[in-house]
Amino acid sequence: MTAPAGDAVGPLLELDHLRMLFPVREAGGKRAHVHAVDDVSVAVGEGETLGLVGESGCGKTTLARCAVRLLKPTAGTVRFGGHDITSLGPRSLRPYRAQMQIVFQDPQGSLNPRKRVGQIIGAGLRLAGGGRGDDGRVGRLLNQVGLAPEHANRFPHEFSGGQRQRIGVARALAVNPRLIVLDEPVSALDVSIQAQVINLLDDLQEELGLSYIFVAHDLSVVRHVSDRIAVMYLGKVVELSPAEELYNRPVHPYTLSLLAAIPVPDPRLSRSRARHAVRGELPSPIDPPGGCRYHTRCPAATDLCRQVEPPLTVYPGGHQAACHHPLNVSSADIAAAVRSPASSRSAGPDLPAAPGPSASDLRESAAR
Ligand SMILES: Nc1ncnc2c1ncn2[C@@H]1O[C@H](COP(=O)(O)OP(=O)(O)O)[C@@H](O)[C@H]1O
Ligand code: SF4
Ligand SMILES: [Mg+2]
Repeated sequence: MTAPAGDAVGPLLELDHLRMLFPVREAGGKRAHVHAVDDVSVAVGEGETLGLVGESGCGKTTLARCAVRLLKPTAGTVRFGGHDITSLGPRSLRPYRAQMQIVFQDPQGSLNPRKRVGQIIGAGLRLAGGGRGDDGRVGRLLNQVGLAPEHANRFPHEFSGGQRQRIGVARALAVNPRLIVLDEPVSALDVSIQAQVINLLDDLQEELGLSYIFVAHDLSVVRHVSDRIAVMYLGKVVELSPAEELYNRPVHPYTLSLLAAIPVPDPRLSRSRARHAVRGELPSPIDPPGGCRYHTRCPAATDLCRQVEPPLTVYPGGHQAACHHPLNVSSADIAAAVRSPASSRSAGPDLPAAPGPSASDLRESAAR
Protein backbone atom coordinates (compact mmCIF):
# COMPACT_ATOMS: atom_id res chain seq x y z
CA MET A 1 0.00 0.00 0.00
CA THR A 2 1.45 3.35 -0.93
CA ALA A 3 1.60 6.00 1.70
CA PRO A 4 -0.94 8.76 1.26
CA ALA A 5 0.66 11.87 -0.13
CA GLY A 6 1.11 14.74 2.26
CA ASP A 7 -0.65 16.97 -0.20
CA ALA A 8 -2.81 18.87 2.21
CA VAL A 9 -1.84 22.40 3.08
CA GLY A 10 -1.27 22.99 6.79
CA PRO A 11 0.72 21.46 9.61
CA LEU A 12 2.07 17.93 9.33
CA LEU A 13 0.50 16.84 12.61
CA GLU A 14 -2.52 18.37 14.28
CA LEU A 15 -3.87 17.28 17.64
CA ASP A 16 -7.23 18.78 18.34
CA HIS A 17 -8.92 18.64 21.76
CA LEU A 18 -7.13 15.39 22.46
CA ARG A 19 -8.16 13.50 25.57
CA MET A 20 -6.89 10.18 26.92
CA LEU A 21 -8.48 8.64 29.97
CA PHE A 22 -7.27 5.31 31.33
CA PRO A 23 -9.82 3.26 33.27
CA VAL A 24 -8.38 2.08 36.58
CA ARG A 25 -9.65 0.58 39.81
CA GLU A 26 -8.94 2.45 43.01
CA ALA A 27 -8.43 0.82 46.39
CA GLY A 28 -11.71 -0.87 47.31
CA GLY A 29 -12.41 -1.74 43.69
CA LYS A 30 -14.01 1.58 42.79
CA ARG A 31 -13.82 2.40 39.08
CA ALA A 32 -12.04 5.63 38.16
CA HIS A 33 -10.16 7.24 35.28
CA VAL A 34 -6.64 8.59 35.01
CA HIS A 35 -6.92 11.90 33.16
CA ALA A 36 -3.56 11.44 31.44
CA VAL A 37 -4.22 13.92 28.60
CA ASP A 38 -7.06 16.36 28.94
CA ASP A 39 -8.15 18.59 26.05
CA VAL A 40 -4.80 19.24 24.39
CA SER A 41 -4.58 20.92 20.98
CA VAL A 42 -1.24 21.47 19.34
CA ALA A 43 0.24 21.25 15.87
CA VAL A 44 3.67 20.44 14.45
CA GLY A 45 4.82 21.91 11.15
CA GLU A 46 7.04 20.37 8.46
CA GLY A 47 10.65 20.49 9.62
CA GLU A 48 9.65 21.89 13.00
CA THR A 49 10.71 20.68 16.45
CA LEU A 50 8.12 20.97 19.16
CA GLY A 51 9.57 20.50 22.64
CA LEU A 52 7.16 18.87 25.09
CA VAL A 53 8.12 19.39 28.71
CA GLY A 54 6.68 18.68 32.14
CA GLU A 55 7.22 16.65 35.30
CA SER A 56 7.15 12.91 35.20
CA GLY A 57 3.54 11.69 35.13
CA CYS A 58 2.07 14.81 33.47
CA GLY A 59 1.04 12.96 30.30
CA LYS A 60 3.89 13.53 27.83
CA THR A 61 4.34 9.91 26.78
CA THR A 62 0.59 9.38 26.55
CA LEU A 63 0.24 12.44 24.31
CA ALA A 64 3.17 11.24 22.18
CA ARG A 65 1.69 7.76 21.84
CA CYS A 66 -1.68 9.18 20.83
CA ALA A 67 0.06 11.45 18.29
CA VAL A 68 1.59 8.50 16.44
CA ARG A 69 -1.55 6.41 17.04
CA LEU A 70 0.08 3.78 19.22
CA LEU A 71 -2.90 4.68 21.41
CA LYS A 72 -6.41 5.51 20.28
CA PRO A 73 -7.44 8.67 22.11
CA THR A 74 -10.62 8.69 24.17
CA ALA A 75 -11.71 11.89 22.42
CA GLY A 76 -10.40 14.50 20.04
CA THR A 77 -8.75 14.29 16.65
CA VAL A 78 -5.33 13.30 15.29
CA ARG A 79 -4.67 14.59 11.79
CA PHE A 80 -1.52 13.69 9.86
CA GLY A 81 -0.75 15.41 6.56
CA GLY A 82 -4.32 16.68 6.63
CA HIS A 83 -5.81 13.17 7.00
CA ASP A 84 -7.92 12.26 10.01
CA ILE A 85 -6.27 9.14 11.44
CA THR A 86 -7.96 9.18 14.86
CA SER A 87 -10.00 6.05 14.44
CA LEU A 88 -8.15 4.09 11.74
CA GLY A 89 -7.65 0.39 12.41
CA PRO A 90 -4.28 -1.39 12.11
CA ARG A 91 -4.59 -2.04 8.37
CA SER A 92 -5.58 1.49 7.40
CA LEU A 93 -2.91 2.87 9.72
CA ARG A 94 -0.11 0.91 8.06
CA PRO A 95 0.84 3.55 5.47
CA TYR A 96 1.04 6.15 8.23
CA ARG A 97 3.12 3.98 10.56
CA ALA A 98 6.20 4.45 8.39
CA GLN A 99 5.74 8.21 8.30
CA MET A 100 5.53 8.56 12.10
CA GLN A 101 8.20 6.93 14.22
CA ILE A 102 8.92 6.98 17.93
CA VAL A 103 12.28 6.67 19.69
CA PHE A 104 12.07 5.74 23.36
CA GLN A 105 14.05 6.87 26.38
CA ASP A 106 15.51 3.49 27.17
CA PRO A 107 17.46 2.22 24.18
CA GLN A 108 18.32 -0.93 26.13
CA GLY A 109 14.68 -1.87 26.65
CA SER A 110 13.48 -0.89 23.18
CA LEU A 111 16.01 -2.96 21.19
CA ASN A 112 15.49 -6.73 21.06
CA PRO A 113 18.57 -8.15 22.88
CA ARG A 114 18.48 -11.38 20.87
CA LYS A 115 18.62 -9.69 17.46
CA ARG A 116 21.70 -8.34 15.73
CA VAL A 117 21.68 -4.66 14.89
CA GLY A 118 21.42 -5.45 11.18
CA GLN A 119 18.26 -7.48 11.82
CA ILE A 120 16.76 -4.76 14.01
CA ILE A 121 17.25 -2.09 11.37
CA GLY A 122 16.37 -4.55 8.56
CA ALA A 123 12.95 -5.12 10.15
CA GLY A 124 12.27 -1.41 9.71
CA LEU A 125 13.44 -1.58 6.10
CA ARG A 126 11.06 -4.45 5.37
CA LEU A 127 8.19 -2.45 6.81
CA ALA A 128 9.08 0.31 4.36
CA GLY A 129 9.32 -2.17 1.49
CA GLY A 130 13.12 -1.77 1.37
CA GLY A 131 13.75 -5.49 0.86
CA ARG A 132 15.04 -8.16 3.22
CA GLY A 133 18.71 -8.41 2.41
CA ASP A 134 19.56 -4.77 1.76
CA ASP A 135 22.83 -4.74 3.71
CA GLY A 136 23.95 -1.66 1.80
CA ARG A 137 21.04 0.37 3.12
CA VAL A 138 21.63 -0.89 6.68
CA GLY A 139 25.27 0.15 6.38
CA ARG A 140 24.31 3.55 5.05
CA LEU A 141 21.86 4.06 7.92
CA LEU A 142 24.54 3.10 10.46
CA ASN A 143 26.91 5.58 8.82
CA GLN A 144 24.21 8.23 8.93
CA VAL A 145 23.93 7.91 12.72
CA GLY A 146 27.69 7.91 13.28
CA LEU A 147 28.22 4.14 13.57
CA ALA A 148 30.05 1.79 11.19
CA PRO A 149 28.52 -0.74 8.75
CA GLU A 150 30.32 -3.62 10.53
CA HIS A 151 28.32 -2.82 13.68
CA ALA A 152 25.39 -4.56 11.94
CA ASN A 153 26.71 -7.94 13.12
CA ARG A 154 26.76 -7.05 16.81
CA PHE A 155 24.10 -7.34 19.50
CA PRO A 156 22.67 -4.31 21.36
CA HIS A 157 24.46 -5.18 24.64
CA GLU A 158 27.82 -4.72 22.91
CA PHE A 159 27.18 -0.97 22.60
CA SER A 160 27.24 1.96 25.01
CA GLY A 161 24.02 3.80 25.93
CA GLY A 162 24.69 6.58 23.42
CA GLN A 163 25.44 4.10 20.65
CA ARG A 164 22.26 2.16 21.43
CA GLN A 165 20.27 5.35 21.11
CA ARG A 166 21.92 5.89 17.71
CA ILE A 167 20.75 2.41 16.73
CA GLY A 168 17.22 3.36 17.82
CA VAL A 169 17.43 6.44 15.62
CA ALA A 170 18.72 4.39 12.66
CA ARG A 171 15.81 1.97 13.09
CA ALA A 172 13.38 4.90 13.04
CA LEU A 173 15.05 6.40 9.96
CA ALA A 174 14.88 3.10 8.07
CA VAL A 175 11.27 3.71 7.08
CA ASN A 176 11.86 7.27 5.79
CA PRO A 177 9.60 8.95 8.34
CA ARG A 178 8.42 12.54 8.17
CA LEU A 179 7.83 12.86 11.92
CA ILE A 180 9.86 11.32 14.75
CA VAL A 181 8.66 11.49 18.32
CA LEU A 182 11.71 11.45 20.57
CA ASP A 183 10.45 10.41 24.01
CA GLU A 184 13.15 11.55 26.44
CA PRO A 185 15.81 10.32 23.99
CA VAL A 186 18.77 11.50 26.07
CA SER A 187 17.42 11.34 29.64
CA ALA A 188 19.21 8.06 30.34
CA LEU A 189 22.55 9.22 28.91
CA ASP A 190 25.58 10.97 30.44
CA VAL A 191 25.58 14.72 29.87
CA SER A 192 28.59 14.56 27.51
CA ILE A 193 26.87 11.90 25.41
CA GLN A 194 23.56 13.81 25.45
CA ALA A 195 25.13 16.64 23.45
CA GLN A 196 26.44 14.22 20.82
CA VAL A 197 23.05 12.58 20.32
CA ILE A 198 21.30 15.95 20.21
CA ASN A 199 23.79 17.19 17.58
CA LEU A 200 23.13 14.05 15.55
CA LEU A 201 19.37 14.62 15.72
CA ASP A 202 19.88 18.23 14.68
CA ASP A 203 22.01 17.24 11.68
CA LEU A 204 19.52 14.58 10.59
CA GLN A 205 16.66 17.02 10.80
CA GLU A 206 18.47 19.49 8.57
CA GLU A 207 19.49 16.81 6.09
CA LEU A 208 16.15 15.04 5.88
CA GLY A 209 13.65 17.83 6.67
CA LEU A 210 12.23 15.83 9.59
CA SER A 211 9.67 17.08 12.08
CA TYR A 212 10.30 16.22 15.72
CA ILE A 213 8.33 16.13 18.93
CA PHE A 214 11.10 16.22 21.52
CA VAL A 215 9.90 15.11 24.95
CA ALA A 216 11.84 16.01 28.10
CA HIS A 217 11.05 16.22 31.82
CA ASP A 218 12.96 19.47 32.28
CA LEU A 219 13.70 22.59 30.31
CA SER A 220 17.48 22.26 30.24
CA VAL A 221 17.60 19.81 27.33
CA VAL A 222 15.07 21.20 24.88
CA ARG A 223 16.16 24.84 24.65
CA HIS A 224 18.49 24.58 21.69
CA VAL A 225 16.62 21.91 19.76
CA SER A 226 13.09 23.30 19.89
CA ASP A 227 11.43 25.86 17.66
CA ARG A 228 8.47 25.99 20.03
CA ILE A 229 7.94 24.47 23.44
CA ALA A 230 4.74 23.19 25.01
CA VAL A 231 4.74 22.93 28.80
CA MET A 232 2.38 20.29 30.20
CA TYR A 233 0.96 20.10 33.68
CA LEU A 234 -1.31 17.29 34.84
CA GLY A 235 -2.63 16.42 31.38
CA LYS A 236 -2.93 19.96 30.03
CA VAL A 237 -0.75 22.30 28.00
CA VAL A 238 -0.35 25.34 30.26
CA GLU A 239 2.07 27.34 28.11
CA LEU A 240 3.12 27.17 24.48
CA SER A 241 5.56 29.58 22.95
CA PRO A 242 8.57 30.06 20.68
CA ALA A 243 11.51 28.50 22.51
CA GLU A 244 13.59 31.61 23.25
CA GLU A 245 10.49 33.54 24.34
CA LEU A 246 9.69 30.82 26.86
CA TYR A 247 13.14 31.07 28.43
CA ASN A 248 13.30 34.85 28.36
CA ARG A 249 9.75 35.68 29.43
CA PRO A 250 7.91 32.76 31.01
CA VAL A 251 4.24 33.66 31.39
CA HIS A 252 2.98 30.71 33.43
CA PRO A 253 4.20 30.29 37.04
CA TYR A 254 4.77 26.58 36.39
CA THR A 255 7.11 27.40 33.50
CA LEU A 256 9.02 29.70 35.85
CA SER A 257 9.37 26.82 38.31
CA LEU A 258 10.73 24.54 35.61
CA LEU A 259 13.21 27.23 34.59
CA ALA A 260 14.29 27.61 38.22
CA ALA A 261 15.17 23.92 38.27
CA ILE A 262 17.78 24.26 35.50
CA PRO A 263 21.21 23.92 37.11
CA VAL A 264 23.41 27.03 36.86
CA PRO A 265 27.09 27.26 37.82
CA ASP A 266 26.69 30.50 39.85
CA PRO A 267 25.71 29.48 43.43
CA ARG A 268 24.14 32.89 44.19
CA LEU A 269 21.97 32.77 41.10
CA SER A 270 21.15 29.19 41.92
CA ARG A 271 19.96 30.19 45.43
CA SER A 272 17.86 33.07 44.12
CA ARG A 273 16.21 30.77 41.60
CA ALA A 274 15.49 28.14 44.24
CA ARG A 275 12.67 30.26 45.68
CA HIS A 276 10.73 29.68 42.45
CA ALA A 277 11.26 25.92 42.53
CA VAL A 278 8.17 23.79 42.16
CA ARG A 279 6.70 22.82 45.54
CA GLY A 280 5.00 19.68 46.74
CA GLU A 281 3.86 16.64 44.84
CA LEU A 282 2.03 16.35 41.56
CA PRO A 283 -1.66 15.79 42.48
CA SER A 284 -3.34 12.59 41.37
CA PRO A 285 -4.48 12.65 37.75
CA ILE A 286 -7.43 10.48 38.85
CA ASP A 287 -9.05 13.41 40.61
CA PRO A 288 -7.27 16.54 39.36
CA PRO A 289 -7.79 19.80 41.28
CA GLY A 290 -10.66 21.97 40.07
CA GLY A 291 -10.13 25.44 38.64
CA CYS A 292 -6.49 25.81 37.66
CA ARG A 293 -4.89 22.40 38.14
CA TYR A 294 -1.70 24.07 39.37
CA HIS A 295 -3.43 25.95 42.19
CA THR A 296 -2.43 23.46 44.91
CA ARG A 297 1.25 24.24 44.30
CA CYS A 298 1.24 27.74 42.85
CA PRO A 299 2.60 30.56 45.07
CA ALA A 300 0.35 33.06 43.26
CA ALA A 301 -2.93 31.13 43.58
CA THR A 302 -6.09 33.10 44.46
CA ASP A 303 -9.73 32.17 44.94
CA LEU A 304 -10.32 32.75 41.24
CA CYS A 305 -7.65 30.13 40.46
CA ARG A 306 -9.33 27.61 42.76
CA GLN A 307 -12.72 28.13 41.17
CA VAL A 308 -12.26 28.87 37.49
CA GLU A 309 -10.12 27.05 34.96
CA PRO A 310 -7.97 29.63 33.15
CA PRO A 311 -8.30 29.55 29.36
CA LEU A 312 -5.29 29.36 27.09
CA THR A 313 -4.78 32.97 26.09
CA VAL A 314 -2.58 34.58 23.43
CA TYR A 315 -0.04 37.17 24.58
CA PRO A 316 2.60 39.17 22.69
CA GLY A 317 5.70 37.31 21.54
CA GLY A 318 3.69 34.31 20.39
CA HIS A 319 3.01 33.12 23.94
CA GLN A 320 -0.05 31.21 24.90
CA ALA A 321 -0.59 30.54 28.56
CA ALA A 322 -3.42 29.39 30.79
CA CYS A 323 -3.12 31.51 33.93
CA HIS A 324 -5.32 34.10 35.62
CA HIS A 325 -2.28 36.02 36.87
CA PRO A 326 0.26 35.78 34.07
CA LEU A 327 3.90 36.79 34.54
CA ASN A 328 5.93 39.08 32.30
CA VAL A 329 2.97 40.67 30.58
CA SER A 330 1.76 44.19 31.08
CA SER A 331 -1.73 45.13 32.22
CA ALA A 332 -2.36 46.48 28.73
CA ASP A 333 -1.30 43.14 27.22
CA ILE A 334 -3.64 41.31 29.56
CA ALA A 335 -6.52 43.59 28.73
CA ALA A 336 -5.85 43.09 25.01
CA ALA A 337 -5.27 39.33 25.31
CA VAL A 338 -7.42 37.01 23.28
CA ARG A 339 -8.31 33.46 24.00
CA SER A 340 -6.71 31.23 21.46
CA PRO A 341 -9.33 30.21 18.88
CA ALA A 342 -10.36 26.57 19.05
CA SER A 343 -11.05 26.25 15.36
CA SER A 344 -7.81 27.03 13.53
CA ARG A 345 -4.93 24.58 13.87
CA SER A 346 -1.92 26.20 12.29
CA ALA A 347 1.54 25.06 13.28
CA GLY A 348 2.18 28.43 14.81
CA PRO A 349 0.98 29.63 18.16
CA ASP A 350 -2.53 28.37 18.09
CA LEU A 351 -4.28 26.38 20.74
CA PRO A 352 -7.86 25.88 21.81
CA ALA A 353 -9.94 27.86 24.17
CA ALA A 354 -10.82 26.00 27.32
CA PRO A 355 -13.85 26.88 29.38
CA GLY A 356 -12.67 29.75 31.49
CA PRO A 357 -13.34 33.11 33.03
CA SER A 358 -15.05 36.04 31.44
CA ALA A 359 -13.26 39.10 30.10
CA SER A 360 -13.95 40.77 33.42
CA ASP A 361 -12.12 37.96 35.21
CA LEU A 362 -9.16 38.63 32.96
CA ARG A 363 -9.33 42.35 33.64
CA GLU A 364 -9.50 41.62 37.35
CA SER A 365 -6.36 39.52 37.08
CA ALA A 366 -4.71 42.35 35.14
CA ALA A 367 -5.33 44.66 38.06
CA ARG A 368 -3.36 42.46 40.47
N1 LIG B 1 -1.89 2.30 30.50
C1 LIG B 1 -2.11 3.10 31.54
N2 LIG B 1 -3.07 2.81 32.46
C2 LIG B 1 -3.30 3.61 33.52
N3 LIG B 1 -2.64 4.76 33.74
C3 LIG B 1 -1.68 5.10 32.86
C4 LIG B 1 -1.35 4.31 31.72
N4 LIG B 1 -0.34 4.92 31.02
C5 LIG B 1 -0.06 6.04 31.71
N5 LIG B 1 -0.85 6.16 32.80
C6 LIG B 1 -0.86 7.25 33.78
O1 LIG B 1 -1.08 8.45 33.04
C7 LIG B 1 -0.36 9.52 33.62
C8 LIG B 1 0.55 10.11 32.56
O2 LIG B 1 1.57 9.18 32.26
P1 LIG B 1 2.67 9.43 31.16
O3 LIG B 1 2.00 9.82 29.89
O4 LIG B 1 3.56 8.24 31.11
O5 LIG B 1 3.45 10.68 31.75
P2 LIG B 1 4.92 11.24 31.47
O6 LIG B 1 5.39 10.65 30.17
O7 LIG B 1 4.74 12.72 31.42
O8 LIG B 1 5.75 10.81 32.63
C9 LIG B 1 0.39 8.94 34.80
O9 LIG B 1 -0.37 9.17 35.97
C10 LIG B 1 0.46 7.46 34.48
O10 LIG B 1 0.54 6.70 35.66
S1 SF4 C 1 -4.15 30.43 37.36
FE1 SF4 C 1 -3.59 30.92 39.46
S2 SF4 C 1 -2.95 28.96 40.36
FE2 SF4 C 1 -2.96 28.71 38.14
S3 SF4 C 1 -0.88 29.15 37.53
FE3 SF4 C 1 -2.00 31.06 37.35
S4 SF4 C 1 -1.72 32.11 39.30
FE4 SF4 C 1 -1.13 29.98 39.61
MG1 LIG D 1 7.16 9.56 29.73
